[in-house]
Amino acid sequence: MAAAPFDLLLRGGIVATAGGCEEIDIGVRDGRIAALGSLRQATAAETLDCRDLHVLPGVVDTQVHFREPGLEHKEDISTGTAAAALGGVTAVFDMPNTKPPTTGAAELAEKCRRAGGRAWVDIAFYVGATPDNIEDLPRLERLPGCAGVKMFMGSSTGDLLVADDAAVAKVLENGKRRVAVHAEDEARLRQRYTIVAGGADPILHAEWRDVETAVTATRRLLALAESASRRVHVLHVSTAEEMTLLAEHRDLATVEVTPQHLTLQAPDCYTELDSFAQMNPPIRDARHREALWQAVADGIVDCIGSDHAPHTREEKKKPYPESPSGMPGVQTLLPIMLDHVARGRLSLQRLVDLTSAGPARLFGLAGRGRIALGYAADFSVVDLKQRRMITHRWIASRCGWTPFDGMTVTGWPIATVVRGRVVMREDALQGEPRGGLLRFLDTY
Ligand code: DOR
Repeated sequence: MAAAPFDLLLRGGIVATAGGCEEIDIGVRDGRIAALGSLRQATAAETLDCRDLHVLPGVVDTQVHFREPGLEHKEDISTGTAAAALGGVTAVFDMPNTKPPTTGAAELAEKCRRAGGRAWVDIAFYVGATPDNIEDLPRLERLPGCAGVKMFMGSSTGDLLVADDAAVAKVLENGKRRVAVHAEDEARLRQRYTIVAGGADPILHAEWRDVETAVTATRRLLALAESASRRVHVLHVSTAEEMTLLAEHRDLATVEVTPQHLTLQAPDCYTELDSFAQMNPPIRDARHREALWQAVADGIVDCIGSDHAPHTREEKKKPYPESPSGMPGVQTLLPIMLDHVARGRLSLQRLVDLTSAGPARLFGLAGRGRIALGYAADFSVVDLKQRRMITHRWIASRCGWTPFDGMTVTGWPIATVVRGRVVMREDALQGEPRGGLLRFLDTY
């Protein structure tokens, strides 16, 4: 008797399983991995020819700002997730600094509702901590579609802020899941604002929001997390000194770096991109960039998040510091990191650890993050040899630009598969946006 057909068959790819890279076929049924191995006799409703391609577990971007609701002129869930799919990303965690900010059950439910029928990839939403919703956080962090709590210790885009030790401690005492933190010290930011107030060269962004601003906040956070016995996740770590501190707190804190902090450096990025290179925390000089790479090599870094933070060209062109901080990145995360693999800065196995296994481990993503029987059939199919130029034209984000315009990379996403559905193939979206909400082990 012939075996039941699969819904989708990925044939002949070099598959990154937990055991290493193997040339095998993958059979998918009902959105899950149903068979791994040589499936030559198998039939399927749809076949993806993966010969000469690598099949990676779906890339999860744990930090994006999709701007919906309220700031849709920069991005929305539809354009943001389209950019993700085109970049080989299968799941995203969206940040709460929207308008209104995602600080309560109603705002979270509204985001989940808006994602229905409009998201190209799977999605979850952070709830933002504020001094006013702290007691509610234990309940909020368990709601469907919630990725956990995000806390801004320093002001960035929007007005979410938990600045002083007492309030940070209270947030850490309320709830159980890992808290994602933007660690810049608000008091020091205010004190040093005179450096840029009234207008300055964007290169002074890294002077205003200096190394000590980041280190002070991270040091405070680690001490408070230790007292509260609460797990924290330090977002977009940008300094050598924080990496030293974080290496001493592996029991409490996990670490994110962004592709832009690993790729761009001061002063060149500010000379070339002006305020388009402005983000929080800032892009810093070569010493810090090298320390971030060392932290990748040493296993201190747990995941790569893009901090996709689109703003329109008009907004970014405002005279600094009126220009908003942030740059898009969800679509370029994988091409940029594959290029680093091609240049020998990290192995493909380590990349998978950072983009799939890491996010699943840190956040307790249910049934995701590895290619294994029974796991969700999320795949980023890539050509490690393809050389392509990243251009503004390729960018699907509503902002329409990328800091990497003109950069030629080696390595490109060829197909994106979300729970067994091919949503991108050869730079084109496929089918309908049917992304769903991610589920988390901690909230069962
Ligand atoms: O540069 C940034 N932009 N850093 C953040 O933390 C927020 C983000 C945004 O939302 O624009």
